[in-house]
Order: sequence, then C-alpha cells, then structure tokens
Amino acid sequence: MGDSSNSSRAGTAGRVHYDFSGARTLVTGGTSGIGLAIARVLLEAGAEVTVTGTRQASSDYEADLQGCTYRQLDLADLEAVERLGQSFERLDVLVNNAGNTFSSEEFERAITVNLTAVHHLSRSCRPALQRSVLQCGGSIVNIASMMSFFGSPYFPGYGAAKAGIVQLTKTCAALWAGEGIRTNAIAAGSIKTRMTQTYCDDRSVHDLITAKTPLARWGRPEEIAAAALFLSSSGAGFITGHTLVVDGGYSIIDT
Ligand SMILES: NC(=O)c1ccc[n+]([C@@H]2O[C@H](COP(=O)([O-])OP(=O)(O)OC[C@H]3O[C@@H](n4cnc5c(N)ncnc54)[C@H](OP(=O)(O)O)[C@@H]3O)[C@@H](O)[C@H]2O)c1
Repeated sequence: MGDSSNSSRAGTAGRVHYDFSGARTLVTGGTSGIGLAIARVLLEAGAEVTVTGTRQASSDYEADLQGCTYRQLDLADLEAVERLGQSFERLDVLVNNAGNTFSSEEFERAITVNLTAVHHLSRSCRPALQRSVLQCGGSIVNIASMMSFFGSPYFPGYGAAKAGIVQLTKTCAALWAGEGIRTNAIAAGSIKTRMTQTYCDDRSVHDLITAKTPLARWGRPEEIAAAALFLSSSGAGFITGHTLVVDGGYSIIDT
C-alpha cells in the first residue's frame, strides 16, 4: 500500500456515535487544532462545552466557536487556572489540551504551561468532577506527545512537561479512582495544526515524518478528538491511568 491510499483513508475515518447529552465539559485550548476538534465532537454528542483560549473574547478568533461557552485563560497564570476550575459546580469531562512550545530560555514557563497548570486545573476541578452525572463518572483527558517518550534536541521544557503528563496521568488516576474520576492521556503523533504548521510547510520535515510513520501520513485533529471522546465515554469505563498512543504507528518503528 502506498502513501496515496493511506492519505485517502485519512478523510474517511468512521464515526462512532456517543451520547453526552447533559454532560458539562471543559476543553482548554479549544480555539484551535486538536482542542477545537475535541470541542466540536463533544458538541455533536450533545454536551455543553466550555472552551478556553488566550484572547479576550471568542469573537477574536476566526474559528467558529458557536455553541461553546468561551473563557479567557493564560495557563501561566496559575491563580486564574484555579479560579476557572473552582467556578464549575459540576463537571463531567475535563480535557487538558492547551499547550505550547517554548525556547530553552523559557524552561520554567514551558513546565508551568504544559504540566503545572494541568495539575492545578485537574485538582481544582476535582470537586466538580466528583459530582459528574455520567454513568461512568467524571473523566480527565490529558494531551501528551511523542516527546513524552523520545529525546529531542528541541524544546527541552516542553519535552520534560509532556513526559511528566504521562506520569501525572497515572498519579491522578490512582488518587481519584475511589471518587469515580478516571484520568487518561493521549500521546499524539504528528498532527496538522497551527502548532506544527512550520514543520508541515517545510517539505523535508514533512516528508521525513511521513516516511517514519507506518501509516505514511500526518494525523488530523479529528483523529485525536475521536480518541478523547472514547476515553471520556462509558466504553472506556474500566480504563484509567492509561496513555493511548495515536500516532499512525510512528512510535513502534525503531529507526
Ligand atoms: N499538533 C501536534 O502534532 C501535537 C502532537 C502532540 C501533542 N500535541 C499537543 O496537543 C495540544 C494542542 O496542540 P495543537 O497542535 O492543537 O496546537 P494549536 O492549534 O496551536 O492550539 C493550541 C491551543 O492552546 C492554547 N494555548 C497556547 N498557549 C496557551 C497558554 N499559555 N495558555 C492557555 N492556552 C494556551 C491556544 O490558544 P490561542 O488560540 O488563544 O493561542 C490554542 O487554543 C497541545 O498540548 C500540544 O502540545 C500536539
């Protein structure tokens, strides 16, 4: 099978229907890329969706955020992160999606935004998640990365934080399982979003990643969203502390 047949399959990903009617959900970084795709599938499944972004208002974005409640949030502001979590009386699904890369000079900031804020938001949402009305209980989905597992000469703070996300996911799962809160993560491979635009546009980088990926293509945000929906659903009711790799097979090849 060549690249072209795999590329054409990318557009035909099957739809599984979930019912999240009445569920209250929060997706950080829901204004773009993976977070926006997650917000859209949750909306389609009947959930109430709150998204966060760094800009003042939802009208500051080109993306269509209709149907979502918008909250401004800078993850570097940990007090604001706590306030956001505490503002929910009940929450059924928390998706800690927002993240960003930073230069090595901004190591601490990278850890704060990509790891510490995830812990603070999860902890401050805990009472609301305990009150989940979902049959499978409240659920947290964190977004990890290939950089959770592999060394890279780029973005040391981002890589360290994403590695920490895998461990934090296990810890929160163990801590809060008794309260009916499941915590899982998705380790995303190379997905075409604003964050990876520069690499996608660089033909040599684009082709190198495609060549290293058994499914011979980049992933789409919707393919991460499908995994997030599954992990939040009763179909994953016995899954907690797990990091689901969604990478087209990138991580199974030893080259
Ligand atoms: N794309 C990939 O290949 C890939 C692979 C592995 C993991 N991931 C992870 O997937 C997640 C989503 O990334 P993406 O590729 O979808 O990127 P994206 O399209 O650039 O979206 C990033 C989102 O995070 C928000 N954000 C960025 N910095 C923030 C901050 N300091 N405080 C609060 N919100 C902030 C952005 O808000 P604004 O729109 O306001 O800037 C945006 O909503 C990230 O955690 C990323 O590390 C991505």
